[in-house]
Amino acid sequence: MGQKKVYVTRKIPQKALEMIESEVNMEINQENRALTRKELEEGIKGVDGLLCFITDTIDSDLLDLNPKLKVIANYAVGFNNIDINACTERNILVSNTPGVLTDTTADLTWALLMAISRKIVPADHFTRNGQYKGWDPLLFLGSEITGKTLGVIGMGRIGRAVTKRAKGFDMNVIYHDIFRQSEEEEKRMGIEYCKINELLKQADFVTLHVPLLPETTHLIGKKEFEIMKKSAYLINVARGPIVDEKALVSALQNKDIAGAALDVFEEEPKLAAGLAAWDNTVLVPHIGSATEETRTRMGMIAAENLLAGLRGESMKNLVNPDVLKNQ
Ligand code: DGY
Repeated sequence: MGQKKVYVTRKIPQKALEMIESEVNMEINQENRALTRKELEEGIKGVDGLLCFITDTIDSDLLDLNPKLKVIANYAVGFNNIDINACTERNILVSNTPGVLTDTTADLTWALLMAISRKIVPADHFTRNGQYKGWDPLLFLGSEITGKTLGVIGMGRIGRAVTKRAKGFDMNVIYHDIFRQSEEEEKRMGIEYCKINELLKQADFVTLHVPLLPETTHLIGKKEFEIMKKSAYLINVARGPIVDEKALVSALQNKDIAGAALDVFEEEPKLAAGLAAWDNTVLVPHIGSATEETRTRMGMIAAENLLAGLRGESMKNLVNPDVLKNQ
């Protein structure tokens, strides 16, 4: 397969690059930053395969630059950066990296939930800045986690992993999803299905684990913040546009909710005006899957999918199987 050409739009762990290089001619963006649109347009030309990231917008105009493109391996479980229909129309196979980042992302959800409810970030700054003058019974009083109600929106792989951890905190877990779990499964997991507004009304913590789709864009906005408890926290490790960030800033300002912990933003890497002004937020730069182990596993899966697609073998994590119907 030495004659096949692939373009990797950003550096990934070495082991995965070596796997790709052992089979095909690989070119890679050497800069330690995402490509500009122009660079992406240049990079895609003439290659058979592309390994790309959520920072690369793959739309029909871009695909039109390379009618030869056969396979796109997205280094992420989410693939909202790719116009899947446009790929399917052009018989381009697309894969993602599900499974390997489930626990890692669930762990970060919990890190954020605990950080926001126990004021870890301002408490760290306070201590670091020399403001700590001695134990104080009223210093940084947070909000209890154990025994509270967790509202999980999206009970897929990551939502389930978050729920499993919640059980270690004796939490009452309610959930909403377009697909309801079976009664036996709900019983086994100790979870209760709710309509979304009911969940928002009851939950002390609302955590989002749905993909970004037209139906989930601004799923949480002004109306939803008004329904939530004033003492509730919002956690988002899914995709930024699921939350109307302007409405979130107003909700924080009006104290409609107690706080928010976010790994993702509506227009990454930009933050909505005023969001960073509040200390009842924890803001981290899209690091849900960012561990050495997981990022290596994601690289290996992306590489395996890319190479399998180029060899004409079945891709383990194909997201647009309709392409196969056309072959
Ligand atoms: C994903 O995989 O979708 C993450 O958001 C990026 O690691």
